[in-house]
Amino acid sequence: MAYEERGQDGGSWFQAEPAFSLEFFNSVSAEADASIIDVGGGASLLVDRLVEQGRRNVAVLDVSNKALGLAAKRLGTNPAVTWLHQNLTTWSPERTFDVWHDRAVFHFLVEPNQRETYLNLVRSCLSPGGALVMAAFDIDGPHHCSGLPISRYRPDELAELLPNWPSYSAPTSQCNRLAERSRCSPR
Ligand SMILES: C[S@@+](CC[C@H](N)C(=O)[O-])C[C@H]1O[C@@H](n2cnc3c(N)ncnc32)[C@H](O)[C@@H]1O
Repeated sequence: MAYEERGQDGGSWFQAEPAFSLEFFNSVSAEADASIIDVGGGASLLVDRLVEQGRRNVAVLDVSNKALGLAAKRLGTNPAVTWLHQNLTTWSPERTFDVWHDRAVFHFLVEPNQRETYLNLVRSCLSPGGALVMAAFDIDGPHHCSGLPISRYRPDELAELLPNWPSYSAPTSQCNRLAERSRCSPR
């Protein structure tokens, strides 16, 4: 896995500051107690920044214990953060979240049934009116991520994944050739 080989900042997706994600978070959810999950958060600095902002309810889920360990080592013991060592494709959440953040995980799901499983998970565990923030490699981005094949998306294709959900009027931009989109679940 990439974290064993290259550490926390060696991947093609690495960003020193998760500025775009933070912009989205601050647009969609101002409350410090809002429950946030960063799926496939890996060793990303997003959780650090959210905690620095005063967020008190952040979960980071990843299939890689190595990645979670790198992030947890930076943060130390912090009651604001829950570490979930889980595989998204088999995880059964026991709670809901107000904000679901996925930067460069959904694109690993190359089979239609995997994508449907993921979208059902989002539908079931996002609170009414909750926000979904997704980023996947854009169509001019790499064909592989961490050595694995991926599906690439234009921003409008990401938006079409949940066609009945109202679109959040946040800016669309790209970072590290990642198409980024945010959606809100129906209230
Ligand atoms: C490309 S990295 C992105 C990490 C982080 N989101 C960021 O933006 O820096 C993808 C992450 O997804 C995790 N991952 C891949 N497949 C997963 C799965 N099925 N369940 C949970 N995590 C997964 C990997 O371990 C890795 O940490």
